[in-house]
Amino acid sequence: MAGQKTFYLETFGCQMNVHDSEKVIGTLEQQGYARVETEEAADLILYNTCSIRDKAEQKVFHRLNDYKALYKQGKRFGVLGCVAQQEGERIFERAPFVSLVSGSASYRRLPEMLVQIEQGATRVTGLDDRQTEETFETEFTARSNPHRGYITIIEGCDKFCAYCVVPYTRGKERSRRSESVLAEARRMAGAGYTEIQLLGQNVNSYRDPEGKHSFAELLAAVGEVPGIRRVRFTTSHPRDFTRDIVEAIDAVPTLCDHVHLPVQSGSSKVLRMMAREYTREQYLERIGWIKGAQRPISMTTDIIAGFPGETAEDFEETLGLLDEVQYDGVFAFKYSPRPNTPALSMADSIPDEEKSKRLQILLDRQREIQRANYEKHVGQVLEAMVEGVNAARGQVVGRTSQNKTLNFTTGQPIAPAPGVYVPVLVTKAFPNSLVGEAVQ
Ligand code: 5AD
Ligand code: SF4
Repeated sequence: MAGQKTFYLETFGCQMNVHDSEKVIGTLEQQGYARVETEEAADLILYNTCSIRDKAEQKVFHRLNDYKALYKQGKRFGVLGCVAQQEGERIFERAPFVSLVSGSASYRRLPEMLVQIEQGATRVTGLDDRQTEETFETEFTARSNPHRGYITIIEGCDKFCAYCVVPYTRGKERSRRSESVLAEARRMAGAGYTEIQLLGQNVNSYRDPEGKHSFAELLAAVGEVPGIRRVRFTTSHPRDFTRDIVEAIDAVPTLCDHVHLPVQSGSSKVLRMMAREYTREQYLERIGWIKGAQRPISMTTDIIAGFPGETAEDFEETLGLLDEVQYDGVFAFKYSPRPNTPALSMADSIPDEEKSKRLQILLDRQREIQRANYEKHVGQVLEAMVEGVNAARGQVVGRTSQNKTLNFTTGQPIAPAPGVYVPVLVTKAFPNSLVGEAVQ
């Protein structure tokens, strides 16, 4: 690799960031850079950052501090993603050895930004002011998994929930042409991919710029691409969750039986303060559609505990909602005040101790719900996509259509390869995973 430019890239945050990184890696490789596995071996060190909660953001600044010494060795640093967009040029003040600061809406300009850095520029920026209409499409995506891959169908966010940084970090909402999405899905199927995950901050707010397909129609069309066996989509916003999405899942067997529908709170009052644009009743109506589907559809959600003004009664309503919906998974977070957001100036903040208490109560309640839900699979035969092996346990690690982890044994000396689909009889259940035996 003598003489070749090298880069190291580390990703923090959500699936959107993971996939953005795949596109950034492909773009850098196209520019003649080779990816290396350690900061020490790299000329250019990039962090793709997350600012959804304060903790995620602090992690990035700690990391930058840890590696300050590497700057003296001539290495260059770049901060990409949500912290970059949020903090902008302030990053140069906090971490003067950083040369590049770019938010996700500017990645199309990465090749020219790289040239500027190579020419010695020390403060290169790609910062968007919610103007960008374009999406970041590239044929050079370096996907890390050869069987299962992401496709971004919509970028940015116009929802402005009171707690959330995303509208400020990922720019305005813009959808990709459905023809372009389908062409990528066909290319991936041709390359051997069998699972596609459609991505967007609000994936179901998708609006085809050419008006050819609704979100549900696009979902069905991706599911009908020859060779594709599983299609997932994340994250859905309840306000835009329409009945035809469930109808598409009913009609197209390749659409996975799982919907992630973040509720955030079970109290209509808190939902109104959060500017979520739906009530508890409207949310439950959508859950009713999902429960009415022809096959059982697994449901998961996100919840924020301790939003400003959340009373003990409001929190009780959230617990009641868990009982009512019976989710298969809940991602719960303590409310974290974020820069620029309307909630920052709201009164009635909840002490951290109380937030922690509520979070724990919620997780305990949910664990029992999941224990019972997962138990129901014992005795069923489910199809698992192989992800790898757990050598220590002598088990193959698989994933079901409902997105549950299913660890199994095969009775064979050689484990099935990653990407293979295996029918598995479920013999045991835990609150977060299933155990089984391959059906011969
Ligand atoms: N504090 C805590 N959790 C948050 N989320 C988004 N913003 C915040 C915040 N300020 C959570 C929401 C969202 C998930 C990705 O992160 O639940 O759905
Ligand atoms: Fe984090 Fe949100 Fe940015 Fe994803 S979009 S990296 S969750 S701040």
